[in-house]
Amino acid sequence: MCGIVGVLGNHEVSPTIVEGLKRLEYRGYDSAGIATVNAAGHLDRRRAVGKLVNLSDMLVHDPLPGHSGIGHTRWATHGAPNTANAHPHRAGPVAVVHNGIIENFQSLRADLAEKGFGFESDTDTETVAMLVQSQMAEGKTPEQAVRATLARLEGAFALLFLFDGERDLMIAARKGSPLAIGHGDGEMYVGSDAIALAPLTDRITYLEEGDWAVITRAGATIYDASNKHANREMRQVRLDAARIEKAGHRHFMMKEIAEQPTVIGNVIEAHVAPDHARVDMGLPGVDFAQVNRVSIVACGTAYYAALVAKYWFERIAGLPAEVDIASEFRYRDPILPPGTLAIFVSQSGETADTLAALRYAKGKAAKVVSLVNSPESSIARESDIAVPIHAGVEVSVASTKAFTCMLTTFLTMTLRAAEDRGTMSGEEIAATIADLRSLPGLVSHALSADAAIHAVAAQLAKARDVLFLGRGQMFPLALEGALKLKEISYIHAEGYPSGELKHGPIALVDRDTPVVVLAPHDRLFDKTVSNMQEVMARGGKVLLIADNRAIAEVGNDVWTSIAMPDAPEILQPILYAVPAQLLAYHTAIAKGTDVDQPRNLAKSVTVE
Ligand code: F6R
Repeated sequence: MCGIVGVLGNHEVSPTIVEGLKRLEYRGYDSAGIATVNAAGHLDRRRAVGKLVNLSDMLVHDPLPGHSGIGHTRWATHGAPNTANAHPHRAGPVAVVHNGIIENFQSLRADLAEKGFGFESDTDTETVAMLVQSQMAEGKTPEQAVRATLARLEGAFALLFLFDGERDLMIAARKGSPLAIGHGDGEMYVGSDAIALAPLTDRITYLEEGDWAVITRAGATIYDASNKHANREMRQVRLDAARIEKAGHRHFMMKEIAEQPTVIGNVIEAHVAPDHARVDMGLPGVDFAQVNRVSIVACGTAYYAALVAKYWFERIAGLPAEVDIASEFRYRDPILPPGTLAIFVSQSGETADTLAALRYAKGKAAKVVSLVNSPESSIARESDIAVPIHAGVEVSVASTKAFTCMLTTFLTMTLRAAEDRGTMSGEEIAATIADLRSLPGLVSHALSADAAIHAVAAQLAKARDVLFLGRGQMFPLALEGALKLKEISYIHAEGYPSGELKHGPIALVDRDTPVVVLAPHDRLFDKTVSNMQEVMARGGKVLLIADNRAIAEVGNDVWTSIAMPDAPEILQPILYAVPAQLLAYHTAIAKGTDVDQPRNLAKSVTVE
């Protein structure tokens, strides 16, 4: 969602804040803004609609001096993405930037309207600025005014305030959305993500749920939700500033697709014992022999990774698995019988729906485990066990390497479950680990289909609708392929189980509707071929993504085919993610859309 940066510095801070926002822009790019307090103590702001570059351009012509300031990139929740709704919001002596949603803002706004306040924006955030302003008008200090305001706010949010006349003060508050305080030498920083602060400092204090902090250049005084002094640890975090560069690629998405052999290798190294005979992934206190069922919850691409894991847990470890979309989970009053292991999957670790589902499961499930890319995230910290997926920073809004790292992590977890439950022998596990260790090489090989996929994408870009089909463990890949295509190329795409097509969706098939079939020569291949014939008999154009054996058998019949290397069946969902990603990428390029920052989306969805 939105990105927040604040700096109390000893130099002009606008460029530093813009630089920090740049590192967060993937979180939202509807508008951006910055406020500073200058040497005379005067609070001022600049705001621009659209990407951050519009704000930087504005600052060139109309600079904003000051050694203290706050900035924001916005993903619109309340109100259209226009200048009036852009942050920072200002009311009298107060400027504020905000991530999240103030749920009771309508009633707060009504109270303020009764007191004669007039509104410039449609946002919930302006209400917060006005509440603080009205408290200060009664004679309260900024600290007292923020404290009184926080007591009235409902919802999930992160807030950062700056005050006219105060050159050495920022106040930060966290409830539901993360905030990190950075410690410099005589300088202090705030970021909605420690990544924003990476070039400035690696000394970070994370605010905890309900915390608020009064920050000056001398340090931060932190209070908990009951306004008592709180001691929060300052940690040295590993933030390699270089990690979020494009490394010679045109887009982050392509860089992240290309990184998959390396990061998948990192997952395997982290989760497999040095002798390569066993899985060693740190699941303290988890004995899958005692687990009766796993219940996996996630959103979007992470949900599709969970759907693949269901096939693996059931087939390989004989363990019943249930998978839910997080935003549905807690509202269906799910039953978590004794012996249920609840698993929450999230790249960002901050997805509001997944976090809410996790909180629902706590105390009901035997153990709460998360698969996360960010070990400092809320989901990681609120789980009994957080298993890292080792994907490294993922900047492109469309998730790619996080998906394959989630799958690889799930696969190692399934092997651990199979070992605990005795559904695989030691030899079988060692042999599967040997297969797994060939995965980075296979993924590199799959990446060499890039040129062929590039060529076919020019055709796909002309389509209005595209169908993706897969059977068994390849069905979730059809869903993922369709999601990738629609989110970055804006072409309507749907994924179906191959066998389901004839129950309705086949009505969509005509010669203008490409049908992408993900069909390695597995035990279900013959059935998939029948489904492909049904499509072709109706003039449908089949794009077959398959291994050489499958292409040798049916490649001549289809519109076109993309060859994948032969691979053990268990690895195929991970491998086939690569052509699905490349297909979406090249189609988006052919259509000229914004690959890394597609419209209406945000990287980390911290609202329900
Ligand atoms: C799609 C995509 C989203 C996310 C979803 C969950 O490319 O990125 O569907 O997968 O918003 O996000 P996380 O994994 O951060 O919980």
